[in-house]
Amino acid sequence: MPIDWDERNGVFHLYNDHVSYLMKVVHGKYLAHLYWGKRVQVLQPDSILSFKSRAFSPASEPLDPQFSLDSLPQEYPAFGNGDFRSPAYQLRTMDGSTITEFVYNSHEIYQGKRPLKGLPHAYVEEKNEADSLVVTLVDSLIGVGINLQYTIYRNMDVLTRSASIEHLGKQDVELHKCMSMSVDFHQANWDFLHLQGTWGREQHLERFPLHHGIQTISSARGASSHLHNPFVALLEKNANEEQGEVYGVSLVYSGNFAATVEVDPFETARLSIGINPFDFIWLLKPGDTFQTPEALMVYSSEGLGMMSRTFHRLLRERLCRGIYRDKSRPVLINNWEATYFKFTEKRLKEIIDAGKELGMELFVLDDGWFGHRDNDKSSLGDWDVNKKKLPHGLKGLAKYVQKKGMIFGLWIEPEMVSPDSNLYRAHPDWCLHVPDRRRTESRNQLVLDLSREDVCNWMIDTFTDVFKSAPISYVKWDMNRNMTEVGSAALHPERQKETAHRYMLGLYRVLEVLTSRFPDILFESCSGGGGRFDAGMLFYMPQTWTSDDTDAVERLKIQYGTSLVYPAITMGAHVSDVPNHQVGRMTPLIMRCHVAMAANLGFELNIDKLSKEDQLIVKEQILQYQKIKDIVCFGEQFRLLSPFEGMDTAWMYVTSDRAKAVIFYYKTLATPNPPFLRLKLQGLNPQKTYRINRGKQLFYGDELMKIGLKLPLIKKDFTSYLFELE
Ligand code: DGJ
Repeated sequence: MPIDWDERNGVFHLYNDHVSYLMKVVHGKYLAHLYWGKRVQVLQPDSILSFKSRAFSPASEPLDPQFSLDSLPQEYPAFGNGDFRSPAYQLRTMDGSTITEFVYNSHEIYQGKRPLKGLPHAYVEEKNEADSLVVTLVDSLIGVGINLQYTIYRNMDVLTRSASIEHLGKQDVELHKCMSMSVDFHQANWDFLHLQGTWGREQHLERFPLHHGIQTISSARGASSHLHNPFVALLEKNANEEQGEVYGVSLVYSGNFAATVEVDPFETARLSIGINPFDFIWLLKPGDTFQTPEALMVYSSEGLGMMSRTFHRLLRERLCRGIYRDKSRPVLINNWEATYFKFTEKRLKEIIDAGKELGMELFVLDDGWFGHRDNDKSSLGDWDVNKKKLPHGLKGLAKYVQKKGMIFGLWIEPEMVSPDSNLYRAHPDWCLHVPDRRRTESRNQLVLDLSREDVCNWMIDTFTDVFKSAPISYVKWDMNRNMTEVGSAALHPERQKETAHRYMLGLYRVLEVLTSRFPDILFESCSGGGGRFDAGMLFYMPQTWTSDDTDAVERLKIQYGTSLVYPAITMGAHVSDVPNHQVGRMTPLIMRCHVAMAANLGFELNIDKLSKEDQLIVKEQILQYQKIKDIVCFGEQFRLLSPFEGMDTAWMYVTSDRAKAVIFYYKTLATPNPPFLRLKLQGLNPQKTYRINRGKQLFYGDELMKIGLKLPLIKKDFTSYLFELE
């Protein structure tokens, strides 16, 4: 069993073939962190820790003057009784104090992995895929326990962690902070890597050396947000795509989060991730338990590329669920950028007809089909079809789509309400708000209060009716603003600071019910593009609309950054019109296709207005995509050239048996009198021979990886190539 408990030394060792994670109970009570990294065997666990009495570091154990919590690497550190670094949790007792002392009490080791009730999480299908450990720490003065939950997968270099706080005492306590994981690294000379951005410019890579003190990325917007993805990695200085140690941590959560690294003067680094403690207080009554979200922890000894491939496999195979988990997705045509709110049934039918003609399989009706929604100023909440636009209803349109041999998809934005809506007029209290304060609008809308059970139930009933009203095979679940005046009319004053997290729990419940009630629907989540692209949403909806920015050049960065954590099969990517609606750029249709073909391909343009020549290109590209999409969706991804480093981008996908591969190469701005270029491939079988684009010549995998694939001389801006290897 890959979790050993060495009782004599008080050491836990979680391991698989590649990774080890070690902890030790020191002085019979403190849970210390020993090691996380490449698989090791340890005979001398005691030699890993060093103790020294340092000036201004409190002596935590009177009988051991060298021992101080301030310099002990810990698994779930507290603040206030010796350790001055950022704590993993903070709990306030009714006497107003935040001093606690949680010490080792017991543990349980078991095969498999238990689900997290009410929260998204990685799972196992068979018990023998993973092993789990729960270490219980107890503060006997207040009767509260902390269960630290660990799982290690046997065939993936993944650990998961979370914590539950169980109140068995007599007096209420308040939870002010409780992170999902905390790890103390014995060194601090790492680089910090994360994904930052904003609307239309999501998931841009940012890497910087750690500095002394605290560095944090976070969201307090009520969603994981466009600004920072709930992911952070620590990298060795020399780490790149192919080499170096990398520790990646991703939070399975879609709301406010924080990821922090603190470097102390003794060059240790404390990394933690969890719910953002800012503006968060949770009241625990005797008998209550609070469960944190889960953190996914990936160790790679071979750079970022391997870290990403591990995340990809985990998310694709053991986080996403439902029948679409193992199926590549239909090529879609969406009407948003073609019509925005202004459409008629006739116009939609023209788009559907043209889409069918060119090989599209799914038509998605976007925003504007309900209430009197002719712009973004009204009707969210009134989910009745607008008969002026669609005289035959959703059903009439869906049947038309079906007759064409396609499937029908629908856009919805369930979490929102327009002040100009019957729903808001009937239930002004159903939105997040604070009594007597302004209700700040964003995109002219307010956020429904999903911390309320009645609102969640209304949502489940309403969308059950919508989904039953027509043959709907796909749903795009949008969410177009962040939260302000976060408060709930249904919660007591002492529980107001729970609203944001209760909202997420409510949302997850609604999603669980609707996705299980409609298992055949392919759900795509969206928040103005990638404003909630996180593992939490992927647990319910196996793909996300990556960005509202569909410009081919901008998308290179967005999709490259997104691929750090999320596999191609989770990304929606559309070919849109030029000049591009977000940046006004003109790029050739073929490059727009090649960029979107590196994910779930879709189209979002006036498809019938394309020239005959362009229609032919679209048709051919769809045919080619059908041939390669399983490789893109289920293959292993290797990033070859980064759009953040120059004018060339390249990535490739290889089948797990290494028999086939697809390579995409993109040049943004061309160079006059250009050099000869070769692209060094990765992930091939060095001994096997490959044929490129069904040509006559054969090349060894070795040759293509070490000497490289010869690229044509590029004389034009925005040139792209797709190579198929067999
Ligand atoms: C934001 C989405 O990201 C877009 O694709 C589109 O669905 C609009 N909302 C519709 O309002």
